Amino acid sequence: MITMFLKRACRVLVFAVLLHDIGLEAVFSSPQQTAPATFVERKVQRNAGDPWWKHAVIYEIYPRSFQDSNGDGVGDLNGITSRLDYLRDLGIGAIWISPIYPSPLVDFGYDVSDYTAIDPLYGTMADFDRLVSEAKKRNIRVIMDFVPNHTSEQHPWFKESRSSRTNPKRDWYIWRDGKGPGQPPNNWQSWFGHSAWQFDPATNQYYYHHFYKEQPDLNWRNPEVRKAMYDAMRFWFKRGVAGFRIDAVSRLFEDPDLHDDPIVPGRNAYGDPNILHKYTDNLPEVHEVLREMRRVADEFPGNRVLISEADEPNISELTKMYGKKADEVQLPMDFQIADVNKLSAPDFRKLLDEVENNPTGGQPHYFFSNHDQPRQWDRYGDGVHNDQIAKLMAALLLTPRATPLMYYGEEIGMRTTPPARKEDVQDPIGKIGWPEEKGRDGERTPMQWDKTKNSGFSWLPVPPSAAEYDVESESRDPNSILSFYKKLLALRRTEPALKQGSYVAVDRDNPFVLSFLRKNRTKGHSILVVLNMSAAPQTIKFDLAPNGIKENSARLLIAAPQLGPEAAVLAHFTIPAFGVFIGAVQ
Ligand code: GLC
Repeated sequence: MITMFLKRACRVLVFAVLLHDIGLEAVFSSPQQTAPATFVERKVQRNAGDPWWKHAVIYEIYPRSFQDSNGDGVGDLNGITSRLDYLRDLGIGAIWISPIYPSPLVDFGYDVSDYTAIDPLYGTMADFDRLVSEAKKRNIRVIMDFVPNHTSEQHPWFKESRSSRTNPKRDWYIWRDGKGPGQPPNNWQSWFGHSAWQFDPATNQYYYHHFYKEQPDLNWRNPEVRKAMYDAMRFWFKRGVAGFRIDAVSRLFEDPDLHDDPIVPGRNAYGDPNILHKYTDNLPEVHEVLREMRRVADEFPGNRVLISEADEPNISELTKMYGKKADEVQLPMDFQIADVNKLSAPDFRKLLDEVENNPTGGQPHYFFSNHDQPRQWDRYGDGVHNDQIAKLMAALLLTPRATPLMYYGEEIGMRTTPPARKEDVQDPIGKIGWPEEKGRDGERTPMQWDKTKNSGFSWLPVPPSAAEYDVESESRDPNSILSFYKKLLALRRTEPALKQGSYVAVDRDNPFVLSFLRKNRTKGHSILVVLNMSAAPQTIKFDLAPNGIKENSARLLIAAPQLGPEAAVLAHFTIPAFGVFIGAVQ
């Protein structure tokens, strides 16, 4: 996914230029010394009647790889149901399941051919209903993946659309004439390489596809498309789903005048010139659609939630996703924090501050791994202390004021295992971009439950690291990554300050150690979190008196590596390399 990282970097660049142009830089660049008692704080204080999604831990399941129940070598819905006790015991409040709709599986489910059915590979609608009701018994909610930007080329809507220029569904997709014989309408590129236009000889026009050519983009300017898609959302809401993770939402609209995208120096892994997706990404109309989707969610009781896959390049764009009147998505995924890609206390401090102080008071939503990015074990690991760093990243995810999103297997330290040979690649971008871009198979390998051969899966191999890292053996080891996650998740549930406390960064100039308070606003202790992001022990002289902390020591709650039970003296506080300390302070 090197290419995806580079593309994101380009998006940040173009937005930095735009912000500078309109003079907004200062507003979003300098974090405050202490969180001001503002609108944001007032909103945080109102937590008594908080919606469930403010406190739940969400867990992404890639269904092909989670648990197979029928021996066909591919995970399925009944497999997920059979693992609900594991998820409950871990402390998971909601599962987001990557697409399970009927699909030709070119993009492994992100090419949907029917929005209101279940692909037989994963089971039946009855299996789905059983999953939702069994999950509910364990207080776990089910979140579906919703793919609004494009359908599969096998979707009946597209089959109709491509059948003739006068078909009533012609305008449901984006059709244009070429510039001339053999020439696409403009220079727009697919995120997955090469031209974003595909010629269709039947009607002698091109259709637009932001992703694979088998994923034609829907035309969101057509009201019938909007209605059909909102009805699909209603279908699932009525079946009891708690919300949607909305896929690739910033890509819904394209410039109607088809301006060429700006070309920047260099070439990507697919051999194309680098471009900025200026005219196909983040157009203002996206927010109109998000408001409409939110109105659909709000038609249903129980605080249904919308999560956006919005790899927004800066806090200004991320903030827009919440909506000016908090009327868009409740949880925009924070890709900026996910993509820091190095252990840098100053970088994390700055980004946590920014989203914490976002002017809409929107709830931060953090994650580090998913089905599109290399896993955090390798990405943040230094090659020597990876297991300890996995614990550090767990604490960084689960202790700030935010809704955390975990990716299956991160709790056991699963590592990225890309295919060694081109012929083994499943994800098409790995075939197009080999060897520079090996695709996303590496982060989608089967869940490592125990030492059963290949955990029963056949679609991708279980990585060699499964010999050491699996749920069964880590459950027995009190020092395993899994045991650490369990302790942290339990602490989140039981400590009022971790649930409701505000977030206040302390020791703010420390280049190596990220420290913050979760400040209890009522009686009871606050929590001090100290994360050493360096390979050397660090000593800190904490002065927390200005933060209302009167005692001079912290009472240990959780630490890794293990420390003695003695109080940590705040004025002379030592933390080992990549150490995690979580303690109570009064
Ligand atoms: C999103 C999905 C990714 C998919 C793409 C196209 O980014 O997370 O897996 O390939 O959209 O649907």
